[in-house]
Amino acid sequence: MPSILTVSHCSKRFSGDGGRALDVLALQDVSFEIGEGEILGLAGESGSGKTTLSRLLLGLEEPDEGEIYYHGTSFTSGKYAKQCRMNGGIQAIFQDPLASLNPVMRVEEIVAEPFRIQNLRFPGGSRRKVEKLLAQVGLGSECMNKRPDQLSGGEQQRVCIARALALQPGLLVADEPVSALDAELQGGILALIKASRDQYGLAVLLVAHDLGLFRGIADRVAIMYQGEIVEIGKTKEILSFPRHPYTKELLSATPPYTREMLLRVPETSVETISTSKNSCSYWARCPYAAECCQDAAPPVKKTDSGFYRCYF
Ligand SMILES: Nc1ncnc2c1ncn2[C@@H]1O[C@H](COP(=O)(O)OP(=O)(O)OP(=O)(O)O)[C@@H](O)[C@H]1O
Ligand SMILES: [Mg+2]
Repeated sequence: MPSILTVSHCSKRFSGDGGRALDVLALQDVSFEIGEGEILGLAGESGSGKTTLSRLLLGLEEPDEGEIYYHGTSFTSGKYAKQCRMNGGIQAIFQDPLASLNPVMRVEEIVAEPFRIQNLRFPGGSRRKVEKLLAQVGLGSECMNKRPDQLSGGEQQRVCIARALALQPGLLVADEPVSALDAELQGGILALIKASRDQYGLAVLLVAHDLGLFRGIADRVAIMYQGEIVEIGKTKEILSFPRHPYTKELLSATPPYTREMLLRVPETSVETISTSKNSCSYWARCPYAAECCQDAAPPVKKTDSGFYRCYF
């Protein structure tokens, strides 16, 4: 699968409040790729850097170090990132759909806005095009004249998805798109994201707190802890045989896992591909921590479909 997006050794630091607060290293040496048409799940606790990474991909922040490539072209100048966003190549949906919709605009105007910005005209106007996009996200044309506050949370998120799909993006960045929705609405929105990928072949970075949401949706999953990707691999491998203790901790909060299941060791071999200097970011919380975990960063070990960072 050719890569649509490559993130190479990206770091991002936010400086403390004029010396009163410590600097935050929100991203540390983050590298991964997303293939064309691939759904990559990204999970990690609050503050682990998921939104910072999403904002980098949207060109809303620039990395302090590292490079991002979209279709092989470097993104880091910020200029190209903005261009990708303006051209609709990279689109986003967020946790709070109401906050990302203009409250005074009607649904028809909201979904047609990307066409207006791009100066795209259609014979007979954009109404038919908007109707088609709304139908694709499961909304009838009776929504067209409503304002965002006249829609349910699920409908609002569907409008955001319709607007994101309008210019047929190559990559959709979905930062916790279902966290604010009731459990019964979550499945519908996730199924819609998957159906959009199946239909248009767009790649998706799907951010979520709950690893269980990725089952049956994501092709691969990346786990972040303190700004670092500590494990990445095929969804089935991560959910069946998590290797990093932090992945196990996240999974232990996700039914139907039991402690015994998480202690199973897979039979496949691993190969150490690199080591670096500092301590492991997870050692203080890790139930398996040994002296070596404090003394030097763990090696990066290659697995069948990705890697993890741990001595064990
Ligand atoms: N603009 C900013 N200025 C200063 N610090 C920031 C800024 N944006 C993020 N941070 C810090 O960077 C770290 C990562 O934040 P980020 O929002 O990326 O986490 P997250 O994984 O998305 O968390 P959540 O699950 O709560 O959304 C946090 O410690 C946060 O306080
Ligand atoms: Mg976030």
